Amino acid sequence: AAQDAAKGEAVFKQCMTCHRADKNMVGPALAGVVGRKAGTAAGFSYSPLNHHSGEAGLVWTQDNIITYLADPNAFLKKFLTDKGHADQAVGATKMTFKLANEQQRKDVAAYLATLK
Ligand code: HEM
Repeated sequence: AAQDAAKGEAVFKQCMTCHRADKNMVGPALAGVVGRKAGTAAGFSYSPLNHHSGEAGLVWTQDNIITYLADPNAFLKKFLTDKGHADQAVGATKMTFKLANEQQRKDVAAYLATLK
């Protein structure tokens, strides 16, 4: 189905255990994350896996966030491996949360795009 940012706002309540739009908490601030280079929220201390993905060219889009949220570790390791950095595709992201429901992933990605 199409993406629904209003439904995504409700899904985002699950993210708020760790994230806010405008400040770092357990997770980095997510305002402006769509279009942002991975691993670059000011003042947040990222895992090497997340940091290296940004250095290797990962820029967050709605599409790649939809894939990432299903399995953040698998997504980041595949990204680095595909970019020729298999040596960096080790360790674990600090983002331990997964969102299995694809419609919820689509909706929350649309909501994230509204956070400027
Ligand atoms: C990182 C989204 C839920 C903890 C991230 C990033 C995104 C994201 C896009 C990468 C940010 C960047 O590169 O600047 C979301 C969404 C969630 C969610 C949309 C809900 C659907 C959670 C939850 C937790 C969490 C529940 C804590 C249990 C973290 C942490 C990082 C992170 C610690 C940094 C990862 C690292 O440095 O390896 N999240 N997240 N997230 N998230 Fe989440």
